[in-house]
Amino acid sequence: MQPAHRDAATHAKRPPPDGIDVWLTFMPEVAPALHAPYRALLDADECQRYKRYRVDGAREEFLVGKALVRTTLSRYRPVAPESWCFTANRYGRPEISGGDDDGLTFNLSHTRGVAALAVARHCDLGVDVETVSRDSAVRDLAGRYFAPAEASYVRAAEGPAIRERFFAFWTLKEAYIKARGMGLALPLDGFCFDLTGEAPTIGFAPSCPDDPVRWTFLRRLISAEHRLALAVSPASPAVPIRFFRTVPLTGIVEELRPAVPPGEATFLHGAETGGPAS
Ligand SMILES: CC(C)(COP(=O)(O)OP(=O)(O)OC[C@H]1O[C@@H](n2cnc3c(N)ncnc32)[C@H](O)[C@@H]1OP(=O)(O)O)[C@@H](O)C(=O)NCCC(=O)NCCS
Repeated sequence: MQPAHRDAATHAKRPPPDGIDVWLTFMPEVAPALHAPYRALLDADECQRYKRYRVDGAREEFLVGKALVRTTLSRYRPVAPESWCFTANRYGRPEISGGDDDGLTFNLSHTRGVAALAVARHCDLGVDVETVSRDSAVRDLAGRYFAPAEASYVRAAEGPAIRERFFAFWTLKEAYIKARGMGLALPLDGFCFDLTGEAPTIGFAPSCPDDPVRWTFLRRLISAEHRLALAVSPASPAVPIRFFRTVPLTGIVEELRPAVPPGEATFLHGAETGGPAS
């Protein structure tokens, strides 16, 4: 994806989204000097969680994720980044508490090297990012976590396609359970993605009743190492999806192309070969 423009305004107010905006922060771009101002944005609960992290990289990912949520939400509603209040649903999904009736909603994901935040209004929204280079026995994990047809599709691949298929399912499954807000309370083998068509589709077993037509899924390569999936309901082929790269509190905002035009909420061609996100 190529930078399309740079917005120098520190807190540029964007118009309310008529679609979905996905904001990405790549950790190597976050200067250590930003950590203190990011910590100043945290509420008491977030501070406690921050201090509990023992691994430096994971602690930084958590901190950057919170800064990304707070500063980005302030683009959509006139609330200072440090003033947002959140509650968690019974499965732990953070939601904006109080305030406007504007349907503003978000979902956050972070992994080694990147944080991703999806923002929209009046929908169920889930996002997941994963690092494909991480060392994992993907065939075994597929058998353990995926529906049988998904695991077979992973095992049928060869070479780099094995890992690509694995992370396609993994990110899509995570995005779906996060959009439902229920996390691992949903049975991971109770729903099954099909990647053989132009766009991912989903089917449900009786253990996980839901309606496939209410969902739209999107896959994107966001860097050579990172894969992202988005789940949104209600499904609408006309919803525009924009991607931005940002570093909280720096004024850096780059819109990444290609934006996904209406009607093309689908995965990037070439993803299975690990090709460039262009
Ligand atoms: C917690 C869970 C919702 C996501 O976990 P994850 O993939 O490790 O983490 P991500 O970085 O994608 O998302 C974490 C963020 O999701 C949000 N979140 C937490 N609970 C959530 C829920 N029930 N629904 C939606 N979002 C949730 C929070 O903002 C959280 O950020 P924080 O921890 O910094 O506060 C859940 O799916 C889980 O525990 N997954 C474990 C991994 C796994 O076994 N996956 C199998 C996939 S096939």
